[in-house]
This record gives sequence, structure tokens and C-alpha cells, in this order.
Amino acid sequence: SNEQIALFTIFGGTGDLAQRKLYPSLFRLFRKGFLKERFAVIGTARREWSHEYYRDIVRGTIQELEPTEKELADFTSHFYYQAHNVTDTEHYHNLKVLATELDRKYQLDNNRIFYLAMAPNFFGVITEHLKSEQIITENGFNRLIIEKPFGTDYQSAEKLNNEIRAVFEEDQIFRIDHYLGKEMIQNISAVRFGNNIFESLWNNKYIDNIQVTLSESLGVEERGGYYDKSGALKDMVQNHILQVVSLLVMEPPAIFSEKTIREEKVKALNSIRVYSEKEAMKNFVRGQYGPGQLDGKSFISYRDETNVEPESQTETFVAGKLVVDNFRWRGVPFYIRTGKQLTEKGTRINVVFKPTPINVFRDPSENACDAEDIPRNILTIYIQPTEGFQLTLNGKEIGSGFNIDPIKLDYRHSAESLDNSPEAYEKLILDCLQGDGTNFTHWDEVAQSWRIVDVIRHAWDKETPDFPNYPSGTMGPQCAFDLLSRDGFEWIWHP
Ligand code: BG6
Repeated sequence: SNEQIALFTIFGGTGDLAQRKLYPSLFRLFRKGFLKERFAVIGTARREWSHEYYRDIVRGTIQELEPTEKELADFTSHFYYQAHNVTDTEHYHNLKVLATELDRKYQLDNNRIFYLAMAPNFFGVITEHLKSEQIITENGFNRLIIEKPFGTDYQSAEKLNNEIRAVFEEDQIFRIDHYLGKEMIQNISAVRFGNNIFESLWNNKYIDNIQVTLSESLGVEERGGYYDKSGALKDMVQNHILQVVSLLVMEPPAIFSEKTIREEKVKALNSIRVYSEKEAMKNFVRGQYGPGQLDGKSFISYRDETNVEPESQTETFVAGKLVVDNFRWRGVPFYIRTGKQLTEKGTRINVVFKPTPINVFRDPSENACDAEDIPRNILTIYIQPTEGFQLTLNGKEIGSGFNIDPIKLDYRHSAESLDNSPEAYEKLILDCLQGDGTNFTHWDEVAQSWRIVDVIRHAWDKETPDFPNYPSGTMGPQCAFDLLSRDGFEWIWHP
């Protein structure tokens, strides 16, 4: 049977993440039979809630999935609430008593998953107490799921890591990067390692540049307080973007396993150049949205958002050029960009191939024979919201004469298959239940990502940016376009 057996303790059980992602994901696993009788959930947070009230909340979070009355009753009966102050040692005693009771009641084999879905400053305190108060069990498995942000720079990340590593081994720690749970991110490896026509060309001999865009149309919404201290570089580049780049850059593993993929990703990240501050200033640009209009709607500027400093210097947009110092990638720029309140929500990868060595269709009276005027082959991986692939090839334009005409081979996942596809969090929680850490970030990856990002941050902090510098509803500031044009390229995707 597929049934997984565990007690979940969710710290931050009243919070936004738990309600938006975790409870619906647990319900989907329940519906699919991965969770049946032998699971229980303890939600904890400071507020005083009863089990009943908690169950009502959980009930509300899964309405969208149209549960039957029986499903609702069965599922929510596994949920328990325990008010808890994470800094109060005595409170852990209550948690322990409840955990032991539920373990017995549902025959959970002492399997425990601790999910830290709350402010990171308490992660260390919590893990320390899990150990000292013996909430970690002797016989079953004990796993820690930990949400971003994992530190705010290398130093704080290392400190945090040391704290949790004092209690959990690396293979018990599941650091979430929800991008790794996305279907099309997992597809990067399928496209590369399942297709000889791509992997054979996957190097600096045939690829000109690679572009990764994580564009968002929303602004910071209610998260101004967090975001204003973070900014796009730490919020998106340090984690999601560098993870995507590492999957594009990595060498093929000998076999597709957690260990080999981790090793290759770590090597990939280690080969991305850590810039000097001077190089960082040249190769990374930032932006902040001002007011703007799109499709008849007006948007306010970042500085007017709730809980954002009126003179905030926080970036809501980043674009950059990464270089990879190894045999395969020498000379191939990886252009990345992400931002809020842009034209359209969309995550895409464009792999731009080099032109043919010579343009045989050129005008014979001209001596220049470079192939610049033949359109490039481009492989596009659509990550979201649309999911699929596109390959731009050249054919002959129909008719007399001989003109080259680009055509697009296009594949999109159907709406139906998308409806049935598991949500990122659902897949990641199941991976954790099964003890598979492939789609989580190893400490070595986190550490190197911070080293890459810290330099950029330090360099930026020495100058006052001229913000706001892009209107809401556009694809970012002019400097993000100049970054490519100075190398003779342009962004392939311009919504
Ligand atoms: C989160 C960031 O990690 O990812 C958010 O903190 C961002 O700021 C979100 O909006 C984007 O995720 P997705 O899945 O909507 O692309």
C-alpha cells in the first residue's frame, strides 16, 4: 500500500502558509490514499484555539477542493491544536504529551515530521527544545521541514544551519524551495537527459546564451513588512533562480538519484563565478516599481505599499548576468531576471542557440557570410502558468524565391492533465514522507548561493539607487535591457 505513517507537528499552524498550502496539500494526499488512518497533525502557534476551532479553519482551507461531508469529517478528525510559545520550555511538555497520545491512538510508529512554517528567528530555539524535551523519538523517523528564508546572508544561514544540525542530521533536514516541486522545473532534467538532440548541444559550442525569467504581475500585497527587509535578490535569486540555473548548468548524473543530483548541483553552483563587488555592479541591476497602468487598471508605487518605508531602497526587480567558469559553459552568459508588478505572470527559460556557421542563403553579391540574419533556434521551457515546450526552427517560406521563415513547434500540457497534476507542496510533502530529499536544497547549495548573492548585496548597499525606476506593468527598468544589448543580445520574451 502507498499509505504513509507520520505525525506532523506544524509550527505556525495558524499562519498563511499552513492555510494556503499545507492543509490543502495534506488533503490531496489524503484523497489519493497516501494518508489514511495512520496520520495526525498537531497545529501549534501562540493563539489559544480549540481543536474544534482549528478543524473549522482547516475545513475552510480545503473547500476549494470540493470535499464530500464524509471526507471533511474523516480528514479533519486527524487535526489537533496546541497553543504554544516556542520560547517557553514548559510548553514543550504539552506538545510531548499530545504527540505521545496521538502516536498511540493512530499507531504512528514514532514517525515524526516537524514543519517550521513560521518566522525563522525561532528555528534554533524550536529544534533545540525538540531534542532537550525529547519530542524527537528514538525508534521512528524524525524529519524537519524548514521554510525559507534560510538566513539573510551567508553568516546568518551558517549560524542557523549549525543550530539545526546540532539536532538533526543533514539527511533529516528538508529545506523547501517550492520551485523544486514544480512539474516543469523537474522537467528540466527530463528535457536535458532524455533527449540526445538537446544534451549533445548543451554547451558553449552550440548555445549562445540562456535566459531565465521569473516574472510576477502582483506587487508585494500584504507582505510589505517581510519584503522591505528582503528585496528581490534575497527573495527570489538566492533560492529559486539559482536552483533553476544549477539544474540547467549541472553535468548529467550517472544515475538519477538524490545523492548524485545533489553532488552535481553543488558542483554546478560552485562553478558559477562569485563576482568581485566591481563585477557585481557591472553585471547586476536592480529596480523598484513606481505607479503605473496596465489593462485599464492603476497600480500604486512600491513605496506606497503597506508596511513599506516611504523612502525604501529595497529592490522589487533584479536582472543579472551569471557566468559559469567551467569547460562546458565558458563564454555562455546566463541572463536572469525577476520582479514584481511586471507586465505578466510567467516563468520561462529560453535557451538561445548559436547561429549556423555560415549563411548559405546570403546574397551572393555580398561578401559578408556570417549567419547573423538567420533567426536563432530557441528552446523555450514554459514553467508557469502555461506549462510546456517550444522549439523555434527555420524552414522555407512558402512560395517562389527562397526565404527563411522561422516556425515554432509547440507542446503544452493540457488543461486536464494540469488539473490532475499535484501541487508543488503536495509533491514535496510526499517526498519528505518517503524520505526522498532530491527536490530539497542541501546545505552546500544554500551556502554557495549566499556567497554568490552576498557580494551583489554588499556592492549595492554602497550606493543609493535612483528609485523608483520602472512603472508598474512594464518589464522592468531600462538598465535590464541594456544589460543584454551591450553583449549584442536581447530578451527573447517581451510580453
Ligand atoms: C516566494 C516569494 O518564494 O515565491 C514570493 O517569497 C513570490 O515573493 C513567490 O511571490 C513566487 O512563487 P510562485 O510559485 O507564485 O511563482
